[in-house]
Amino acid sequence: MQKVLVTGGAGYKGCVLVPKLLVAGYGVIVYDLMLFGSAGLPSHPNLKIVTGDIRDSAKYADAVTGCDHVIHMACISNDPSFDLDPSLSRTINYECFEPLVLASKSAGVKRFIYVSKQVPGGHGGTSARAADRLQQIQGALRANSLPPSVP
Ligand SMILES: NC(=O)c1ccc[n+]([C@@H]2O[C@H](COP(=O)([O-])OP(=O)(O)OC[C@H]3O[C@@H](n4cnc5c(N)ncnc54)[C@H](O)[C@@H]3O)[C@@H](O)[C@H]2O)c1
Repeated sequence: MQKVLVTGGAGYKGCVLVPKLLVAGYGVIVYDLMLFGSAGLPSHPNLKIVTGDIRDSAKYADAVTGCDHVIHMACISNDPSFDLDPSLSRTINYECFEPLVLASKSAGVKRFIYVSKQVPGGHGGTSARAADRLQQIQGALRANSLPPSVP
């Protein structure tokens, strides 16, 4: 059975995606800080839920061991939340991205999918920040010889 680790898998999008992955026959590991709890996730024999921070390299490396794919959705997902504590938000949305990619690669992950709705120029006032984030992510992927899985 192919295994997928979903960071932020207990969030709004994750609670829709994870059941679909389970129905499709994947083994799923949700790796999430559970800022909003985990009540939206189903109980399923092929689902493992790990409460962890994507900035915790050792814990992430342990969780991703044996996974074939990663879908990365953990983040501070909107500008008002980001602005509550921009320094903290940067550590989650920017700074731990490359370590996550490296740990995934070391664990033998074949495909790393980065999910975002933020597109440069696409959302009015968020465009400069979105462009900055996208550039950083594409750079991290290229630096690690991974094909950019972002638009
Ligand atoms: N909501 C939408 O309509 C939508 C549409 C398209 C794309 N997206 C993208 O999908 C992604 C997820 O969006 P969402 O709406 O599910 O967000 P969300 O805020 O509902 O979920 C984010 C999840 O990340 C977790 N998280 C936050 N910081 C963490 C950390 N340090 N370590 C581990 N987990 C952490 C939270 O606990 C939460 O469960 C984002 O990149 C967003 O841009 C969302």
